[in-house]
Amino acid sequence: MLETQDLGVRFGGHVAVNCVSCRFHPGTLTAIVGPNGAGKTTYFNLISGQIPALQGRVLLDGLDLSAWPASRRTRAGLGRAFQLTQLFPRLSVLENVRLAVQATRSGAHWRGLNPHSTRSDHPDLRDRALQLLESVGMSNQAMSWVASLPHGDQRKLEVAMLMALEPRVYMFDEPTAGMSHDEAPVILNLIRQIKQDPQAIVLLVEHKMDVVRELADRIIVLHNGELVADGHPGDVIASAVVQQAYLGKGDA
Ligand SMILES: Nc1ncnc2c1ncn2[C@@H]1O[C@H](COP(=O)(O)OP(=O)(O)OP(=O)(O)O)[C@@H](O)[C@H]1O
Ligand SMILES: [Mg+2]
Repeated sequence: MLETQDLGVRFGGHVAVNCVSCRFHPGTLTAIVGPNGAGKTTYFNLISGQIPALQGRVLLDGLDLSAWPASRRTRAGLGRAFQLTQLFPRLSVLENVRLAVQATRSGAHWRGLNPHSTRSDHPDLRDRALQLLESVGMSNQAMSWVASLPHGDQRKLEVAMLMALEPRVYMFDEPTAGMSHDEAPVILNLIRQIKQDPQAIVLLVEHKMDVVRELADRIIVLHNGELVADGHPGDVIASAVVQQAYLGKGDA
């Protein structure tokens, strides 16, 4: 189980995440919704260790990760989609995924790997990397440079690399944002697959309510950094607090 206890941070005088306590269980996809600036991405950053918390704790299976850097949390099973800045832009798409697979297999943090090491050429790693690229529909781009990929493909690559880590916790922050109508279903299908794993804890920040309605087992709502609703999707979407939080937004 993943748990946050009184987790919070402020930027200057602005409280971006305010004492959020929540538990996330295996085999459950929890959607995190709320208006722009509600603190959703910041909440993810606090869980993954991208930014230090001002207060509160993050626990995975009872283990307190709060003082750990992001890389160690990743090794412990907290999987955050990669950002482009974390990739090796001068290596091919395939080599980037292969390094992520290799990091997972060796228990190392993948940024600590030498991309030119001979061990990394092991055919198993390459096969697994190719399989992951196929699952996101990117077999044709295996030899492309990461830096040359269009936006939608970059997002798909992030998901392939997240899957390479085989994490306990999958954190998706608007995974289909900026994708075309053709591309989004590929990612949503993968999330559907991941959700079948009874051990996986899946967190999904998503603005599109039709996607949330279909995928989520549970919805939590953040508003001004506070957790203001938590429950079954139908109930939460119908609740006054969500209607109010989304007032002026057409998609709720
Ligand atoms: N590094 C930062 N420095 C200063 N303020 C920040 C920083 N990161 C986020 N904020 C502020 O914290 C608040 C929460 O931002 P956050 O990005 O978490 O919102 P969000 O719910 O993810 O919004 P969106 O739906 O637009 O992605 C916002 O007011 C934002 O401007
Ligand atoms: Mg955000």
